[in-house]
Amino acid sequence: MDNVRLLLIEDDLVDQMAFKRLVANGELPSDCEIAGSVALARDILSRNTPDVIISDYLLGDGTAFDILDLHIDCPVIITTGAGDEEVAVKAIKAGAYDYLIKDAAQNYLKILPVTIEKAIRQKRNEERHRFLSGREYEEALLAGGLGFEETMRLIARAADAESPVLLTGETGTGKSRAAKAIHYGSRVRTMPFMGINCAALPENLIEAELFGYRRGSFTGAVADRKGIFELAEGGTLFLDEIGEMPLHLQSKLLGVLEDKQVRRIGDESARHVNVRIIAATGVDVEHSLGRTFRKDIFYRLSVIRIHMPPLRERRADIPELCKFVLREIAEGRDVRLPDSEVAKLVSYEWPGNIRELKNVLERAVILQGRDLRPSTLLGSPALVCGPSGPARSKGQIPTLAEIEKNHIRQSLEIMSRNVTQTAKALGISLSTLKRKIKEYGLK
Ligand SMILES: Nc1ncnc2c1ncn2[C@@H]1O[C@H](COP(=O)(O)OP(=O)(O)OP(=O)(O)O)[C@@H](O)[C@H]1O
Ligand SMILES: [Mg+2]
Repeated sequence: MDNVRLLLIEDDLVDQMAFKRLVANGELPSDCEIAGSVALARDILSRNTPDVIISDYLLGDGTAFDILDLHIDCPVIITTGAGDEEVAVKAIKAGAYDYLIKDAAQNYLKILPVTIEKAIRQKRNEERHRFLSGREYEEALLAGGLGFEETMRLIARAADAESPVLLTGETGTGKSRAAKAIHYGSRVRTMPFMGINCAALPENLIEAELFGYRRGSFTGAVADRKGIFELAEGGTLFLDEIGEMPLHLQSKLLGVLEDKQVRRIGDESARHVNVRIIAATGVDVEHSLGRTFRKDIFYRLSVIRIHMPPLRERRADIPELCKFVLREIAEGRDVRLPDSEVAKLVSYEWPGNIRELKNVLERAVILQGRDLRPSTLLGSPALVCGPSGPARSKGQIPTLAEIEKNHIRQSLEIMSRNVTQTAKALGISLSTLKRKIKEYGLK
């Protein structure tokens, strides 16, 4: 029970002592506060949310129901004196996680640590599964095994909070996907999720995109336009590659975060905005801090900081990720990934992280038919889409359309879904690309 914070609400000094003994023996986590009354508990809870609350039923200034009424987002275990069983049942109905009857021999203290552990495990599972339901949130689903649990927990916490979040991690580790997961797990999930990639736009455009402008404020500004801050009103604004934002815009952004006001370029007065900010950076923060990444904005944004670990540090998750990604891309086709292949994927370095894993599996599905051997595609450039090796049987020849579709999909991914840049890279016009995106159902 690492990193677990308990709150015991108990007015009986003898029971308090017994509890303290469990803590001293290491049977319960040391981060444990004790409140002798409902009032004291309220005070503690107004400052911190524990992971589990253990509350005696009858307290000097109230009952455990007063605690349940606070609807704190953590399991509450109720302890009652013998004879209060009926109350205990009511407590469960009112949302308590479990109850323990205090017996004279204090046997309940033996069950307490296990009960607390079970409560914590269940809560963490719930946090994980919040993201695993609902079709419209598909793009925000996060797959992962044990190596990802801590990150998932942080993401769930971030979803519950309203403060800014800073996501860090190498390319392809899932920062953008995590930003969506946070938004769709949050209270404002039905409000807009808007994103802007600060590295993909020239300096003058970023400012116009972020804050909007008034017609005539510069050449080309033919009509008034809202910035992305206003468009995200009530929802979440995802600032990708924040470390690449020009310094003077970083300080302007800081101003917006502090007073929640944006002023369109050319406008005289500012408007109030209410948006939740999630920022991401792939650059080494410690290195760029104070140079290309302003310290003040960094601290303002990293109220919650989540580091997405590289895939090579969470190899145990690779089998689970493969299953998930294959389900996503095989679209009902019958494909098989033998264990020997999974083992090879587990031992690979994955410099491009989950994006690379996804690309390799996509190419395998397109090029290899039913029995996948993605390990043969490792280390080859992600964009080579044509059959790199000879097709081994007639049934394995992908259609040109399949190859084109996949090539467009991967190019979009690499260009962070910027269609203008993707069209340029592919050497086709924007309208052609848009038509093909529609045709292949890629949006
Ligand atoms: N936990 C996950 N489960 C399933 N798919 C994932 C997961 N994490 C990331 N992906 C997928 O992997 C690819 C790369 O993820 P994403 O674009 O979020 O990475 P990123 O860290 O934002 O990369 P970059 O720094 O290049 O912007 C995407 O296709 C994404 O959908
Ligand atoms: Mg990204």
